[in-house]
Amino acid sequence: MAQLWGGRFTKETDRLAYQFNASINFDKRFFAQDIEGSIAHAAMLKEQGILTEEEKEAITEGLTGIRRDVEEGRLVITEEYEDIHSFVEANLIDRIGDAGKKLHTGRSRNDQVALDMRLYVRQELLEIDGCLKDLLETLITLMEENLDTYMPGFTHMQKAQPTTLAHHLGAYFEMFKRDRLRMKDIYARMNYCPLGAGALAGTTYPLDRSITASLLGFAGPTLNSMDSVSDRDYLIEFLSALSTVMMHLSRFSEEIITWNSNEYRFVEIDDAYSTGSSIMPQKKNPDIAELTRGKTGRVYGALVSILTTMKGIPLAYNKDMQEDKELTFDAIDTVKNCLILFNGMVKTMRFNKAVMEKSAVNGFTNATDAADYLVGKGVPFRDAHGIIGRLVLYCIEKNTSIDSLSLEELKNVSPVFEEDIFDAVSLKTCVEKRLTLGAPGMEAMKEVIRVNREYLKEE
Ligand code: ARG
Repeated sequence: MAQLWGGRFTKETDRLAYQFNASINFDKRFFAQDIEGSIAHAAMLKEQGILTEEEKEAITEGLTGIRRDVEEGRLVITEEYEDIHSFVEANLIDRIGDAGKKLHTGRSRNDQVALDMRLYVRQELLEIDGCLKDLLETLITLMEENLDTYMPGFTHMQKAQPTTLAHHLGAYFEMFKRDRLRMKDIYARMNYCPLGAGALAGTTYPLDRSITASLLGFAGPTLNSMDSVSDRDYLIEFLSALSTVMMHLSRFSEEIITWNSNEYRFVEIDDAYSTGSSIMPQKKNPDIAELTRGKTGRVYGALVSILTTMKGIPLAYNKDMQEDKELTFDAIDTVKNCLILFNGMVKTMRFNKAVMEKSAVNGFTNATDAADYLVGKGVPFRDAHGIIGRLVLYCIEKNTSIDSLSLEELKNVSPVFEEDIFDAVSLKTCVEKRLTLGAPGMEAMKEVIRVNREYLKEE
């Protein structure tokens, strides 16, 4: 056990207690951020006359050397140390001696870990944002290719009105776009530097916190040292945003699983993103979509877990807070993997356009338009609704669709029907007449795609 304390202790820590307490197994993840933060801290200490130029140089070189050696596999992060901070400091002292012992001046592991975690999460947030952007690019391309791929739109899982695949995918585009906006907001709010908060009450050394904040790319230093070491709001916001990403992916997965079923056959998932069965040779399973739907649970779990951990913690730092790490790391890995795989799956998925279109034609999705047709001929809407209802019943009994009836059959239900009914209830007309902004009609969709293409160029 190599630890950073011990002066006031007369006994060794119990082995199990030591292991229970240790965090190196997981906080080694932000090894690079720990070094980056220490290099900035040393530079600031030098500016403030707390370290000499030589000491700062020795520390910077020592830390850079440790980073290089770990990255190139010459130095291994082992469990002999309690946490990543101890590992780096002990190695630095080994390398450069006394100057290394000065690095921790005016700093505590509390503000150090608060900084490392923020730096790490900030970078991962940008990566996840990049994955979201890739998915948006895939979606908008598919939208452009499927402006006239007709399909039924559903409410209550019942065919409701006709729409297009572009329109349906466009709904997900808006969801993932909002997810990116959330990331941007969270980034702006979290981008303040806790370094210099010390253990909880700042320090008596003349630190200049704006120097470290700006060296590390923050908008500025945080403004209360107790809050700085015990704030986990940004993680809660981040995990909440990640939960929303997963909720969106999960809804989309659910649809893909349904569309991929033998009953629907709207899509076929590429072999590269499906799996087979060990016993049933005919199977091609949508495992990626199912796992994405399933893994949503663990990301929600991380959010609920940290909310629960934080609810009873008095100011300022308490060890409970170490629990923020593993769950956040797991959520980050899960969301990143899901986004990358989901994107690959959607990109390579085949849409059975003919099946989708047939499904739209067969489900009375034009019933609203048929009623609107009668309204256009002067029938009050409520009466028109009743007439078309009876017409649908007639079609169900005869196992046919409104547009397949003869004019005579139509006239038997209402004399108002004329020859132009057939054009009015054709699938194409039903979609293309829906031209309000946000609706599936081609011209309306083109405008939305134009706006969203602009957005992707800028953001
Ligand atoms: N491993 C700790 C954490 O993740 C680092 C901070 C330790 N501070 C302390 N006072 N024990 O929270």
